[in-house]
Amino acid sequence: MLIGSVGNHQGAWRRPTSRVEESNDLSLFADIAQAAERAKIHTLFIADGLTLDRDQVRTKPFAGLEPITLLSALAAVTEKIGFVASVSTTFSEPYNVARQLASLDHISRGRAAWNIVTSAWGEINFGGKPLPSHSERYRIADEYVRAILALWDSWEPGSVVNDRAAGIFADPEKIHPIDFVGEHFTIAGPLNVPRSPQGRPVIAQAGSSSDGKAFAAKYAEIVFTAQQSLTESQAFYRDLREHVAAVGRNPDDVKILPGVSPILGRTEKEAIELHRELVNLIDVESGLVRLSRQLGHVDLSDLDVDGTIPAERLPDIEQVQGRQSRYGVFKQLALEEKFTIRQLIEMEVSSSGHWVPVGSVEQIADQLEERFQQGGADGFILLPSFYPEGFTYLTDELVPLLQERGLFQEEYSGDTLRERLRLPQPSPVTPLQRS
Ligand SMILES: Cc1cc2nc3c(=O)[nH]c(=O)nc-3n(C[C@H](O)[C@H](O)[C@H](O)COP(=O)(O)O)c2cc1C
Repeated sequence: MLIGSVGNHQGAWRRPTSRVEESNDLSLFADIAQAAERAKIHTLFIADGLTLDRDQVRTKPFAGLEPITLLSALAAVTEKIGFVASVSTTFSEPYNVARQLASLDHISRGRAAWNIVTSAWGEINFGGKPLPSHSERYRIADEYVRAILALWDSWEPGSVVNDRAAGIFADPEKIHPIDFVGEHFTIAGPLNVPRSPQGRPVIAQAGSSSDGKAFAAKYAEIVFTAQQSLTESQAFYRDLREHVAAVGRNPDDVKILPGVSPILGRTEKEAIELHRELVNLIDVESGLVRLSRQLGHVDLSDLDVDGTIPAERLPDIEQVQGRQSRYGVFKQLALEEKFTIRQLIEMEVSSSGHWVPVGSVEQIADQLEERFQQGGADGFILLPSFYPEGFTYLTDELVPLLQERGLFQEEYSGDTLRERLRLPQPSPVTPLQRS
C-alpha cells in the first residue's frame, strides 16, 4: 500500500521546476491526486497543523488549505483514490467534525478517512488556555472518537427510504439520538447528515507513544508511524499488533504504514546529486528553530551546529508534552548515532524525522520490499521529497517496479476505500449497545 502526501523537503521549492506559485492552488493538488490515481495509489493524505510560524514561512512555502475543504474539491476530479484528512481532537468539536467527514464520505462516494491527531501545539489560537498534557490529550481523544462513532451510527442502514408514493423520505424510527454525556463533550444527536457510504469513514492515527499505541489499538484501522531502521520498524510493528490483539481485535485489521521520504533518481549517482542539491538549499537558521520545537522546545541556540547535543539537554521521553515518539527518534539519532545538530536539522527539514533513503528507483524498491517482507510494514506512507520530478519518480517508476514484482496493486478493487484497503465492514452499533 502506498499513500501519497504533499509533505516535502524544506529546500525543494527553490528548484527551478517546482510549482511553488501554485502552493495553495487547486490545480497543483488536482494534478497530484490524478497522477497518484493513475498509479493506483490507495489514498492521498493531507496533514494539518493549526498555527502559523512566521519564521518558518519565510523559508518554506506553506500549503495552508484546510484538508476537508481541499479533499472535497479533489473528490470531484478523481474517482477511486481515497482521501485521508488530519483533524485535531484537541481543537475541534466532534459534532462538526463528524458532519464534515460524513459529508466528505458522501461527496467522494465512500473514499474518506480521518487521521486523528491530538496536536502538540495550537493552544494560542484556541482560547489561550494551556495545552492539555500529553496523556490528557489522548483521554480527550478517546471520548471524542466514541462520540463521533456514535454520531456516524446514529442513522441506521436503510433509514433513508425515498418513498415518493407514501411521501416518506426517512424513517425516524431508524434515526437515533446519541445522548452522549462525557467529561468533555455533551451531544444529543442524531447527526444531521445521513449515514455515509462507508458507514464510518476509515480511521487513521499517527501517534506512537505508549498512550498513542493504546489509542491506536482501540480505534485505528491505519497507523502512520516514523521509524528509521528495519529493526525499529519490526519492533514497532510487532508491538502495535500485540496491543491490537490485547484489546480483542484482529491485528490484520490494522494497516501499519511507516513514513518514507525517498530521494531517488534514475541512478544512484543522480539520487546522491539530488540529495546534495537539496541539502544545499536548506536554511539552517529556521531549521534550528524547527528542530528545537521537535525536541520539545529545548534551547539549542548556544550550541555549535557542527557539534552534538549534550545528553543532559534531552529529558526523558515521558517528560515531553509534545510529540513523544518523534522526540524519541531524534533523541536516539542525537545520542546513540551521534548526529551533529546540522545533521539533525537536515533530518528535520527533509522529512520531520521520517526515513529518508537515497538511491536509484531500484535500490529504493529493494529497501521497501525488505521492510515489507521482513515484518516492518504493511505498506508505506510516501512523502515525496520534491515536486514535480520526485513525485513522478514515485508514480511512474517506483510503482511500476513494485507492480512488476507483484508487490503492488495494478487496479483498484472494491467500491469504497474501506474495501480497497481490505478493512472489515464495521457493524452498525444498535442504540442499546451505544449507551
Ligand atoms: C505520517 C504521520 C503524519 C502525521 N500527521 C500529522 C498531522 O497532520 N497533524 C498533526 O498535528 N500531527 C501529525 N502527526 C503527528 C502525530 O499526530 C503525533 O502527534 C506524533 O506522532 C506524536 O505522537 P505521540 O506523542 O503519541 O508519539 C503525524 C505523524 C505521522 C507519523
